[in-house]
Amino acid sequence: MRSRPVQTRPAIGVFDSGTGGLTLVREIMRQLPDEPVIYFGDTARVPYGSKSPETVIRFSLEDAAFLLGKGIRLLVAACNTASSVSMPALREYSSVPVVGVIEPGAMAAAKATRTGIVGVIGTNGTISSGAYQKALRDAGGIKAVIAQPCPLLVPLVEEGWLDHRITVEIVEEYMAPLIRERIDTLVLGCTHYPLLKSVFSQVMGPGVTLVDSAESTVSAVREILGAAGGAGGAEAPPEHAFYVSDIPLKFQEIAQRFLGRSIPLVTQVEVGDA
Ligand code: DGL
Repeated sequence: MRSRPVQTRPAIGVFDSGTGGLTLVREIMRQLPDEPVIYFGDTARVPYGSKSPETVIRFSLEDAAFLLGKGIRLLVAACNTASSVSMPALREYSSVPVVGVIEPGAMAAAKATRTGIVGVIGTNGTISSGAYQKALRDAGGIKAVIAQPCPLLVPLVEEGWLDHRITVEIVEEYMAPLIRERIDTLVLGCTHYPLLKSVFSQVMGPGVTLVDSAESTVSAVREILGAAGGAGGAEAPPEHAFYVSDIPLKFQEIAQRFLGRSIPLVTQVEVGDA
C-alpha cells in the first residue's frame, strides 16, 4: 500500500473571488508540478468584479490573512479584479512575497505585440481601475491600449456555455471595438477568460495573439521560487488543499471545468465578516 506523501515544503497560497483562480492553479500544476498549493475561493462574496475598490481591498486582505495563517511561502492574487486594486495593500500586509496577475500579463503582452496596439478585457472593476492600462504603458513599446469590460462573460463560463452560440455572439459584440482599432494582442484579464480561448481565437482571427495572464503569472512565480532555490525536486507528489467560504459542493462541480481534474475535498471556512 502506498503511504501518504509527507508534506515537507510550505505551499503557494492562491486566492480568488471564487472558482476562476483555478485556471491559475492549473498553470501551477503544469509549470510547477512539485509545488503544493493552498487555494482559497471567496464563494460567499463572489463576484468581486462589480464591487468597489475599497470593498475588494478589504476582502483581499481578509483572504490573504486566512492563507498566511496556513504558513504559505508565497501569496498569489489570482483574481484580476483583486490584483488590479489590492497589490499595494497586500504587499504592505503580507509577510511573504506577493504576486499579482496584472504586471506579468502586461509584460507578456508588451513582448508579444508587433504593432504596439494592445487590447485588454476584464471585469468592470479591473478595467475601471486602469491597472492593466498603466502596467501596459509602463512595460514600454505600447502605442495604444484599448480596454473593454466584458461583465457578461463570467456567468456564461460558470454556466459552462463555453462554445454556445450566445457566448460567441456576446464575444463578437464585445470584441467589435478592439477589431476596429486593429489590436494585434489581447490580454485575457480575468480568471474565467482562458476557458473561452477558442471563442476569442475564432472571433479575433489568427492575427491576434491571446495573452493568458495566469500563464505569465506562474512563470513569474517560478522565477521567484527558483531565485529562492526552492522550485522543483520534491520526492513525493504534492498535496493540495482547497478552501471556500460557501457551498463547497458547487465549487467542486465547477472546479472540474477550470482545473481539468476533480478535487477530492473542499473545506468550508469563515473569512472576515462573511
Ligand atoms: N476572479 C474575477 C477576476 O479575475 C472574476 C470573477 C469576479 O468578478 O469575482 O477578475
